[in-house]
Amino acid sequence: MRDALEADVRAGLSATPKTLPPKWFYDARGSQLFTAITGLVEYYPTRREREILQTHATDIAHLSAADTLVELGSGTSEKSRLLLDALHEAGTLRRYVPVDVDETVLTQSSEAVADAYPGIAVHAVVGDFEHHLPLLPAGGRRLVAFLGGTIGNLLPPQRARFLRTLASHMGSGDTLLLGTDLVKDPARLVAAYDDATGVTAEFNRNVLHVVARELGADVDPDVFAHVALWDAQNEWIEMRLRSLREQVVRVLDLEVPFTRGEELRTEISAKFRRERVADELTAAGLQLLSWWTDRDGDYALSLATK
Ligand code: AVJ
Repeated sequence: MRDALEADVRAGLSATPKTLPPKWFYDARGSQLFTAITGLVEYYPTRREREILQTHATDIAHLSAADTLVELGSGTSEKSRLLLDALHEAGTLRRYVPVDVDETVLTQSSEAVADAYPGIAVHAVVGDFEHHLPLLPAGGRRLVAFLGGTIGNLLPPQRARFLRTLASHMGSGDTLLLGTDLVKDPARLVAAYDDATGVTAEFNRNVLHVVARELGADVDPDVFAHVALWDAQNEWIEMRLRSLREQVVRVLDLEVPFTRGEELRTEISAKFRRERVADELTAAGLQLLSWWTDRDGDYALSLATK
């Protein structure tokens, strides 16, 4: 993990414009901040996704007929419960495979799930959904859930590669349940990523806390301001950290100069339309089976097969 962070920091802070990948937000504090974000009035995706799962988990269980639920980026596994309950009800559930980069959260949630569902095997994988798909246990009929809209964090070429790799690891009876946030009024989108209480700002700066702690970087996260903007061309939200003054960040053997006002991109969060989801699944060798949205049409869950 440390080597991967080092490589990402080296590449990202030497690039123009500077970037850092969003996966490094999620240490224990970052996961806590993200959990706080999911409860903010402005941040609707988590509530909308839960609404869709509450309404359609039984359909998903029957359509997938899965014995294994693999969850990529499982976090607290809070939403997995709805799927686990439905698969358990349907009588097919045998195994749960949560995959997350945060080992602390993963251990806690695996233990909680193992306690709640005594008959099932829990096989937790500490890893990154982009690089560790080959580590996933094979066999059985798998439902791979990739929820929360996290696929939106990948740039289009990365996304295409991820979906192709995932499809190549899926067998004929396996299904993919994909959560995607949808294009909507930009004012609502920006508010969701720039909340009034500043929790998202602190979440954004957390990537610098992680870099400081893990790599011993000399950087003060508070000398960066949170920026969230809607990129209408690309249909994604972009989060950045704007340097409040001219400064030099020292990390590894690098001296990274920032001009006053210079921005470091820390996240993109792509927003989708049904057609784009269907097309991208098709391009990866998958086929859209079902598409569900919440009542307001804010968010979608797609079920796809190979
Ligand atoms: C967990 C990646 C889906 O993009 O909406 C929340 C992360 N970033 N607020 C998202 C996030 C800022 C979130 N995902």
